[in-house]
Amino acid sequence: MQHGSGMLQGQSAAGRTNPPAAPAAHSDPRRPPSALDRASEAEGALVANIPSTSVARQSLPVFRHRTALLYLVEQHGVVVVVGQTGSGKTTQIPQFLAESGWAAEGRVIACTQPRRVAATSLAARVAHESGTRLGDEVGYAVRFEDCTHESRTRIKFATSGLLFRECLRDPLLSAYSVVMVDEAHERDAYTDLLLALLKKIRKQRPDLRVIISSATLDAESYAAYFGGAAILSIEGRTHPVSLAYTGAPAQDYVAAAVDAAWHMHNNAPAGDMLIFLTGRDEIDAALQMIADRAIGHASPPQLLALHANVDAATLAAVFAPAPTGTRKIVAATNVAEASVTIDGIRYVIDCGYTKLRQYDHVRDMDVLAVVPASQAASAQRAGRAGRTAPGHCIRLYPETAARAVPQSTAPELVRCDVAPFVLQLLALGVTNIARFDFVPPAPSAHMLAGALEYLAALQAIDDKGCLTLLGERLAEAPLDPMLARALLAAVDEGCADEMLTIAAMTTVATPFIQSKGAAGVAAEISRRKFVATEGDHLTLLNVYRAFVDPKIGKQSPQWAQKYSLSYAALRRAMSIRTQLEKYLVRRWRLPVTSSDDATKIRRCLVAGFFRHAARALPDGSYVSARGGATLHAHPSSVFSSRRPESGWVVYHEVLHTAKSYMRDVCAIEQDWLVEMAPHYYEVTKK
Ligand code: CDP
Ligand code: MG
Repeated sequence: MQHGSGMLQGQSAAGRTNPPAAPAAHSDPRRPPSALDRASEAEGALVANIPSTSVARQSLPVFRHRTALLYLVEQHGVVVVVGQTGSGKTTQIPQFLAESGWAAEGRVIACTQPRRVAATSLAARVAHESGTRLGDEVGYAVRFEDCTHESRTRIKFATSGLLFRECLRDPLLSAYSVVMVDEAHERDAYTDLLLALLKKIRKQRPDLRVIISSATLDAESYAAYFGGAAILSIEGRTHPVSLAYTGAPAQDYVAAAVDAAWHMHNNAPAGDMLIFLTGRDEIDAALQMIADRAIGHASPPQLLALHANVDAATLAAVFAPAPTGTRKIVAATNVAEASVTIDGIRYVIDCGYTKLRQYDHVRDMDVLAVVPASQAASAQRAGRAGRTAPGHCIRLYPETAARAVPQSTAPELVRCDVAPFVLQLLALGVTNIARFDFVPPAPSAHMLAGALEYLAALQAIDDKGCLTLLGERLAEAPLDPMLARALLAAVDEGCADEMLTIAAMTTVATPFIQSKGAAGVAAEISRRKFVATEGDHLTLLNVYRAFVDPKIGKQSPQWAQKYSLSYAALRRAMSIRTQLEKYLVRRWRLPVTSSDDATKIRRCLVAGFFRHAARALPDGSYVSARGGATLHAHPSSVFSSRRPESGWVVYHEVLHTAKSYMRDVCAIEQDWLVEMAPHYYEVTKK
């Protein structure tokens, strides 16, 4: 076994391996004082504040591996930790490290998560366990939200994307002593890229420790990638979960999930329930349907949503125990699959689908598609029912279908367009992308070439393949390159003020609250006054302007409520707008001027979104400019009920469910496409 002498395979109940005598290496006088030495000095407030003596913490499987883990981290640059979800990896390991001195002398322990809602909720949990205020010694940093203290934060939860981007400012990640890359099995692009950077950084900073952890993981292949790593596996502690399948695939899995949930609520013994659906709309619809059925019921369940955009109060309620005698029903996206653990779940209902971003060869772009969940994902979902007691999982599809889906999901870097990631790598000074040491499998040469071609059309790189000044800014902006490009075009056109608002409003989850029935119709009518015939972007601009107008919306929650607008979303848009404005004004010293000319604004959107262009057909559908695929305006779009006068549109993204829907659509002139993106449309129209 070449992967280091620290190979430790699970100290299971059978006690296969004894923990190594921890301070074995102390006699070497050349060695700097170790974390274990420092542990005995008991320094820092954190040690006092986070006792690992609490009974709840000690009962987690990871606790029994504390000494072994600290020893391995001490001795090896890279440690792979494998252990089932709920064994305490994410919440405990950073605390063990802090307690033993890895956060001494102003250093920081980072723990990365693929999803922002996981980063924020786990930070809150660890702060709570440590008896400290969130944002003090334990904090989090996600895009547009930094909840850390400049000098006091010792444990920092962050999205993998955020930490990756920190390398732009601090290429050696010098603030950190340990980076724990969590949920590595997720294989999201930024987690993979961060691992690749950490491998490079460690060549120059051998003192930096890397912990790779996940629920299910090919530990050996990571060890091989890093040229050797210690492996620690933590035994699982799960109870049996019985599985039930439906006879035929559900026609409408949201309705089927509601039926199953309601049946279980009325017939199954006590225990909380987790329903896996693919997105916010489905979750809201399902919870509404269950709430309707629960009217007048003797013991109505507590209904909660868990997805990327829930507010902090809902998040807290999801993790808190339900009121005594009440069953908690949580409807969640796959964030509940592995990233976070909700205690007390005994019943799982799995719709069998997941929402995935993937490259569509016909349209030559990424599409958000609802696809069958992989076997690995389904197993994870079912497992959530058996954490504290035997559980039960209902799968809303036949058993034959379960065997037909892929074993696991392809890594994001081979599944999606890599242009945004190539842009980031170029900004980090990686010149030969084709030879970059990706965590295998690397993106194909074809996909990399396509990404470079697109970045050239975006004017982010010149004909030698070098990053332009514009490209540097696109990489630095905390926005998708398309939106960043539109914003920088708006600076030149003199409408940056408007585009800042549009960028902020399209970044937050929709401000429009969807309600059903009469209330929904009333809301729809009241909001009509904001509708701009040019499309969704200008409609969002109207909404924002009215909200902040001192004579109209006055930034008041009552006004928002009157028009069924989410006050939280509008406030968040204000905050994001302020941060984006700082980039333009303070960082890049660019002028922010305002223009009432809607044409200018729409032309700037074309400068960013030219790749996403489509032509309207007489029957109300659309055809994509590239690839000739059929598209439809999303029901939430202005163009679901009207046709763009000019006949052409650009849009932010495509959501593929039963049909392919365009979201955030803006009417444009066809000529602008050739004018704004000559390379792109010349190349494709040959
Ligand atoms: O990372 P891993 O899946 O191994 O476990 P974890 O996220 O560290 O969670 C360990 C335990 O902490 C869970 O099993 C829950 O009992 C508890 N926990 C909680 O109650 N509330 C949270 N917000 C997070 C964790
Ligand atoms: Mg975890």
